[in-house]
Amino acid sequence: MSEEKEKLNVIILAAGKGTRMKTPLPKVLHPVAGVPMIHNSIRAAQSSGASEIRVIVGYQGQMVKQVVEPLGAVCFFQQEQLGTAHAVKSAQIENLEGIVVILNGDHPLIEGVDLLNFVKEFKQSKADLAVVTCEMDDPGQMGRIVRHHGQIKAIVEAKDASVDTLNIKEINTGIYVVDADILKDYLPKIKNFNAQKEYYLTDIVSLCLEDQCKVIAIKADKKVAVGVNSQEELAKATRLVFLRKAKKLMDEGVIFLNPKATYVEETVEIGAGSVIYPNVFLRGKTKIGSFTVIESNSFISDSEIANSVQVKAGSYIEKSKVHDQCSVGPYARLRPETELLSEAHIGNFVELKKVKFGKKSKAGHLTYLGDAEIGEDVNIGCGTITCNYAVDRKKYKTKIGNGVFVGSDTQFVAPIEVGDNAVIGSGSTITKDVPAQALAVARGKQFIKENYVPVKTKNEEK
Ligand code: UD1
Ligand code: MG
Repeated sequence: MSEEKEKLNVIILAAGKGTRMKTPLPKVLHPVAGVPMIHNSIRAAQSSGASEIRVIVGYQGQMVKQVVEPLGAVCFFQQEQLGTAHAVKSAQIENLEGIVVILNGDHPLIEGVDLLNFVKEFKQSKADLAVVTCEMDDPGQMGRIVRHHGQIKAIVEAKDASVDTLNIKEINTGIYVVDADILKDYLPKIKNFNAQKEYYLTDIVSLCLEDQCKVIAIKADKKVAVGVNSQEELAKATRLVFLRKAKKLMDEGVIFLNPKATYVEETVEIGAGSVIYPNVFLRGKTKIGSFTVIESNSFISDSEIANSVQVKAGSYIEKSKVHDQCSVGPYARLRPETELLSEAHIGNFVELKKVKFGKKSKAGHLTYLGDAEIGEDVNIGCGTITCNYAVDRKKYKTKIGNGVFVGSDTQFVAPIEVGDNAVIGSGSTITKDVPAQALAVARGKQFIKENYVPVKTKNEEK
């Protein structure tokens, strides 16, 4: 085969509104396991080696385009939704060469490897058209595969089917592999003589067969047929994608206390021996090392958590980096651009933003550190605050050297620098730099006024 004949193109149908979703958001932008479901179809197409991906958009097309095009796909507008054949036609098929895979944007469980297998079977059988089918116990509204002596003869939509046809369990998944020239020849021949007055792509099967083209049905796993048409189906698809990810990670040695109640997105990496408690959300580009424990109700996005780290219950970590053997939480918050060097400890109700927090340093309780650099082996007492935001609405930096001891309830009014090994007395409001090795105390002096409260007589007490 020539190179042009080998070229793989993918067309994804995504112009429909998804009326049954009952929200104004276009169906394909509803998130499945944390990402718009159309991402999944595009990712599958990309990992199958497609040289071009064309997405048909219509309802809220501009919005869909904004999500789709940054991923490298090209959008084609279908102004009126006149059916699936009409949608494919909108993809300027005249200039397609090679093999075309057509799929729906609302089947989020499809993976690249599935598409590759379909293309392989299509090539091996030297077919002109392949329809991917699946056996289902409850085929609902799916198009039925009508066979004669085992050979596929037609696809009949549920709305156009007789009672006998409705009893067929084999359905059309909406995925097709077709020779580009066949598509160009037969798509214009499809008519809209049916219950919905739509141009059905499914009619290409019988049209091809009339001309003795070779049409095959490829039977696929049930997951390929999991489509999303309602909120209930969306929740089901999300659950299946999360479970699939958890199973993959378990095969690599990650320990899940309850894989059915964890939310680990496809893009996340976790090392062997790490433990994921129930109700943990791991999102985006998060990377977790080995032997790290993430306790319940923790939410971590786009962060790197290294080896043997303890993230205790209820912690919230975004765009941060946590090195080996740190402990975080319970109920800690690491905001973007925070980095904890190894063996650091961040305890309960501590919030860090844009902080580099030194090796073996500790902030155990009720503290806010923002725009700060904290050295090694520093103790930050309970209730410490960096006052980083000034009346001029600008942010200022606090720099604390190595070995510093900060007493409880201290405020650092930034910009401020504290030298190595300095000691800050509890309850201080530090407004001037503190030299290395010094003691700084900045609080009202305690005075005692004896007998300030008169002693009550026995009668007064009553
Ligand atoms: C379609 C198939 C059916 C199959 C099912 C699998 C047809 C006629 N029927 O039915 O055999 O079992 O998929 O899920 O093809 N779309 C457009 N423009 C349109 C119409 C639809 O882009 O004018 C898009 C939709 O956004 C959706 C996809 O095509 O992503 C399928 O359309 P939908 O209306 O959901 O078709 P089904 O009734 O599910
Ligand atoms: Mg559908």
